[in-house]
Amino acid sequence: MSWIPTLAERVKNLKPSPTLAVDAKAKRLKANGVDIVNLSAGEPDFDTPEHIKDAAIRALREGFTKYTPVAGIPELKAAVAGKLERDYGLKYANGEIMASTGGKQVLYNIAQAILDPGDEVIIPVPYWVSYPAIVELAGGVPRFLQCEADNGFSLDLNALEGMITERTKALILNSPSNPTGAVYSAQDLRSVGELAIKHGFMVITDDIYDEIRFDDQGPDNVASIVPEARDYCLIVNGVSKTYAMTGWRIGYLAGPEAVVKACTKIQSQSTSNPNSIAQKAAAAALSGPQECVSSMRDAFLERRDFIMNRLSGMTGVSCVEPKGAFYVFPDMSSYFGSSYDGTSIDGSLALADYLLEKAQIACVPGIAFGDDRFVRFSYATDMNTLKKGMDRLEKALNELR
Ligand SMILES: Cc1ncc(COP(=O)(O)O)c(C=O)c1O
Repeated sequence: MSWIPTLAERVKNLKPSPTLAVDAKAKRLKANGVDIVNLSAGEPDFDTPEHIKDAAIRALREGFTKYTPVAGIPELKAAVAGKLERDYGLKYANGEIMASTGGKQVLYNIAQAILDPGDEVIIPVPYWVSYPAIVELAGGVPRFLQCEADNGFSLDLNALEGMITERTKALILNSPSNPTGAVYSAQDLRSVGELAIKHGFMVITDDIYDEIRFDDQGPDNVASIVPEARDYCLIVNGVSKTYAMTGWRIGYLAGPEAVVKACTKIQSQSTSNPNSIAQKAAAAALSGPQECVSSMRDAFLERRDFIMNRLSGMTGVSCVEPKGAFYVFPDMSSYFGSSYDGTSIDGSLALADYLLEKAQIACVPGIAFGDDRFVRFSYATDMNTLKKGMDRLEKALNELR
């Protein structure tokens, strides 16, 4: 019999990222020749713009292939500072900025840097899949604040204040949101900033979709709306979504120097600097021409309008119009209780399985985001694929009726 190693308690309850798992399954089926319409991916379908690739090629040719400072090269930090000033009117010094291997690692570093066992982090639901796991891996306790489609997934500020305890260390905000596409109003951001100051907790503002916004009112966040709350805010962002650079793995943090230093210390003992070549590319992305951003945003808007129009014609489907990001999050719970081939559809997982098996559409069940009534479809794919996906969805849903 072979020896079975014992794993740490902390990984026993840890689930792999469900979005990456669905995407991997869809890609596997596709590789095996199944005609899958993959609407599960959390990444733009566009290629990284040429001028960004050129910067990487230049870096490579010039031999920029060695370790860099752990928190990132000065050129990238300056580009981040430039972006935050340009888009938010916020000034951050070199020591208040850190680059990491993606926004995900920034969030991981923050949790490790600020949470002691038992510390609480408030997470609005629906949430991005990795927030609870990142908090738990640091010994923290996620406290969930339910948000409802009826209110456009806005924050219930009374409920939020009611949840704050002595152990509340932070609140995570994600606007525009993955999975709902909701954008918090300036008024709500103001109230959150005031609560942070009053009760003394940090606001982790995950702004990764900040430039994929359709209401012409952003970007904004708690720090830009409430200047007095600046030092309560930890700004998390990255180049993955805005510049179609998911594989390059560059994210960044801007916030109080003490937290940035602590995160850098953690990074120095875990992964060291993010990839040197990708840092050069990210600097070019943030400080170079920005037309690529608006043309990708225009394409996302056209797709959002298309998919919303199609969903609105489907019986038993209701969907809040996303104001940003590239996802729709329709409520499909009216189909729960139906069945196919003797299998009952009792929740979002079963519905997503049905759609994958019977309609060859890959999507992510809402339960992964903390709300079982919904299913997430990504529209970061071309129009033909979207059209095919919506045709298949409509047919598959009709067959359940
Ligand atoms: C809400 C949200 N935050 C953070 C990330 C992390 O992105 P990355 O690590 O590619 O920068 C993602 C990626 O899917 C996301 O959707």
